[in-house]
Amino acid sequence: MLDEGLCCRAWAMKGVLLLVSSVGILLPSVGSCPKKCLCHPSSNSVDCSGQGLSKIPPDLPPWTVTLLLQDNQIHWLPALAFHSVSLLTTLNLSNNSLSNLAAEAFYGLPHLQVLNITQNSLLSIESSFAHALPGLRELDLSSNSLSSLPTSLGRPWKNLTVFAMQQNHLLHLDRELLEAMPKVRLVLLKDNPWKCDCHLLGLKLWLERFIFEGGETDGAICRLPEPWKGKDLLSIPHELYQPCPLPSQDLAPSLVQQPSATQQDAQKSPENSSGQQDPLECETKPKPKPTNLRHAVATVVITGVVCGIVCLMMLAAAIYGCTYAAITAQYQGRPLAPTRKSEKIGSKEPMELMDTSPA
Ligand SMILES: *[C@@H]1O[C@H](CO)[C@@H](O)[C@H](O)[C@H]1NC(C)=O
Ligand SMILES: *[C@@H]1O[C@H](CO)[C@@H](O)[C@H](O)[C@H]1NC(C)=O
Ligand SMILES: *[C@@H]1O[C@H](CO)[C@@H](O)[C@H](O)[C@H]1NC(C)=O
Ligand SMILES: *[C@@H]1O[C@H](CO)[C@@H](O)[C@H](O)[C@H]1NC(C)=O
Ligand SMILES: *[C@@H]1O[C@H](CO)[C@@H](O)[C@H](O)[C@H]1NC(C)=O
Repeated sequence: MLDEGLCCRAWAMKGVLLLVSSVGILLPSVGSCPKKCLCHPSSNSVDCSGQGLSKIPPDLPPWTVTLLLQDNQIHWLPALAFHSVSLLTTLNLSNNSLSNLAAEAFYGLPHLQVLNITQNSLLSIESSFAHALPGLRELDLSSNSLSSLPTSLGRPWKNLTVFAMQQNHLLHLDRELLEAMPKVRLVLLKDNPWKCDCHLLGLKLWLERFIFEGGETDGAICRLPEPWKGKDLLSIPHELYQPCPLPSQDLAPSLVQQPSATQQDAQKSPENSSGQQDPLECETKPKPKPTNLRHAVATVVITGVVCGIVCLMMLAAAIYGCTYAAITAQYQGRPLAPTRKSEKIGSKEPMELMDTSPA
């Protein structure tokens, strides 16, 4: 009797729960599925792919977790484009016409984990892009027209495991960008015109360690310079790389510290387009070079002076020794000769001094 009562009560509870949940799911889905999309409340996904859309449909259901927008003609994302679907974890924008990724477009998506932007026309990505999507796990930027990626792109990407940028126009990739993705396990680099010069040495070293630790990559094939065309970046021995004029890795700490005074001024202005240039400026700024040069010049001068003094002292010692030897040697013989010889040597002394002092 007691058991039956409990059982019945449990069934009733389940029924009520089912009713509530189904009503809860059905109500918004019935109310707000965009015309050109297929809404699947059971999987919380909305499929608007291949509908010739040029912008994001305005009335997306708020429960959307997966949004498929691939195979459309979306060429621009306004700020807060996905604000109404803040539960989004997967967003597919593959095969659209996007040419720039503005960070503001992705504001309000704290749960986004997978972002697929393959087959667009991306030329640039804002450096603050990663700040907008701190929880991202997979980013696919393959088949675009990116010729560079900002170094600070990956600054907060603690959870990124897949980073794909195949089929772009990349010549270089900063090691710092990848170092800011501690959990990355798959890095796809294929089909870029990699320029395997000193600037790519950092990537090579990073990849070697990455592979050693079990990471996966499809490899970077060099397009330039000419002798290494078609070769795998990883197969070129370290010794063949010329050192860069300004090795950014070694100077990184001093670089960070030195411009801090000037950056404080810059930080007063809000993060707008100029903010994007900051990391680049830091890298290309030849600021540490003059100080290095000055150091080098000072060292050379000091070394020269010290060498000069030592040389002079040695010369003086030699002359003194020679004179002394001559005097003692001739002291036994003719008494008049030594004065003449010592005079000769004495007159030679300043000449030689003059010769050696500028060197
Ligand atoms: C890209 O989308 C267009 C429609 O906008 C479609 O016709 C085309 O087949 C798609 N391409 C691929 C590779 O899926
Ligand atoms: C994105 O769409 C493409 C088709 O254009 C599909 O092959 C791919 O699996 C989708 N990716 C995700 C993460 O949904
Ligand atoms: C993104 O979509 C492409 C097809 O357009 C697919 O090949 C690729 O695997 C997808 N990337 C991810 C990370 O899901
Ligand atoms: C990264 O993943 C962990 C575990 O899934 C999660 O707790 C954390 O919030 C994520 N970090 C960010 C920045 O989203
Ligand atoms: C952008 O930054 C500059 C200073 O670098 C500032 O003068 C300007 O007002 C800012 N623009 C916007 C739109 O915030």
